[in-house]
Amino acid sequence: EKAGFKHFMLKEIHEQPRAIEDTLRGRLDREHGDVHGHEIGLSDDDARSIKRVFLLACGTSHHAAMTGRYYLESIARIPTSVELASEFRGREPMIGEGDLVVAVSQSGETIDTLIAAREAKERGAKILAIANVIGSAIPRMADAAFYTHAGPEIGVASTKCFSTQLANLMMLSIWLGKRRGSLDEAKARELVEAMARLPLLMRDVITGTRQLVCNLAKRYRDARDVLFLGRGLNYPIALEAALKLKEISYVHAEGYAAGEMKHGPIALIDSAVPVFVLMPKDRWYERTHGNLQEAKAREGQVIAIATEGDESAHSLSQDVIEVPDVPEAITPFLTVLPMQLYSYYVADFKGTDVDQPRNLAKTVTVE
Ligand code: F6R
Repeated sequence: EKAGFKHFMLKEIHEQPRAIEDTLRGRLDREHGDVHGHEIGLSDDDARSIKRVFLLACGTSHHAAMTGRYYLESIARIPTSVELASEFRGREPMIGEGDLVVAVSQSGETIDTLIAAREAKERGAKILAIANVIGSAIPRMADAAFYTHAGPEIGVASTKCFSTQLANLMMLSIWLGKRRGSLDEAKARELVEAMARLPLLMRDVITGTRQLVCNLAKRYRDARDVLFLGRGLNYPIALEAALKLKEISYVHAEGYAAGEMKHGPIALIDSAVPVFVLMPKDRWYERTHGNLQEAKAREGQVIAIATEGDESAHSLSQDVIEVPDVPEAITPFLTVLPMQLYSYYVADFKGTDVDQPRNLAKTVTVE
């Protein structure tokens, strides 16, 4: 049941350290700085000969896939595209032999993802499913299934399934990178060790940020519009933060690539708009920091999600939600947690039906 939590969503947010632990179990090869990849369904030769990867997904799973693209490109060095399954369908896509399709779907039943993967399979691509529900339709039609082991997710808003999808996408990238010779030993070890520490780090972030995030939700619950900005690995997290807020609290929110602000949306910012800026210390930091200053100059209520000890973030923002200093590839696992909590608390203050938002279904089997 809800184990003392008010809603399944809050319980599932708190379960993420355990869910990640289950997902990583038996798969991280810490001795060799590698991943046990037999579930991926590819031979070492296949791994070397893949020309391109296509990630197909919808909704929250699409956001995980967007982060997955960074992993596949920077860790495995394979050209990768991310596609909304509903847009990929029927487009006569240029895809075929030598291409790997990774269909990412928590339920394994989303009809658009299923049909898109089928179309790709008919054209000769190999299909790998990343799914949570064992034996569901997408893993059944795929050539192989690399399951997340998040456990049953009851809340309609996906939380622990999202973070375990990130874990599988990261493991897939490490496994491919090692076989293709594109990932050096030291980097592989660094990533595997950082992943092994994730359950502890995630627990610390949840317990360490929860009170502040709850206070922020209380303060901004009546904001009409909310913006989330991020770059690179954290751009999909900005999109995910906005989706979560929309779907359970019915607040209008937008996630934006921080660099796009000056191309239009900055006009929206005034003193009534909370602007969350995802800016951990990574290769994009300086530029995102510049965007924070722009938002502040327009009197937005700026809240930074930044690395512990970032004095500059503290001096420029109204509030700072701190996350530990980790290798940049790991940051999305941590930055997403306070964003999930924020949408949860806003919804709870508003008194919406958190686990069963209006108009939404857990599994979307209609087109
Ligand atoms: C949002 C949410 C949805 C799903 C989407 C795809 O919180 O859960 O956006 O991510 O409907 O579902 P799956 O992953 O089952 O294919």
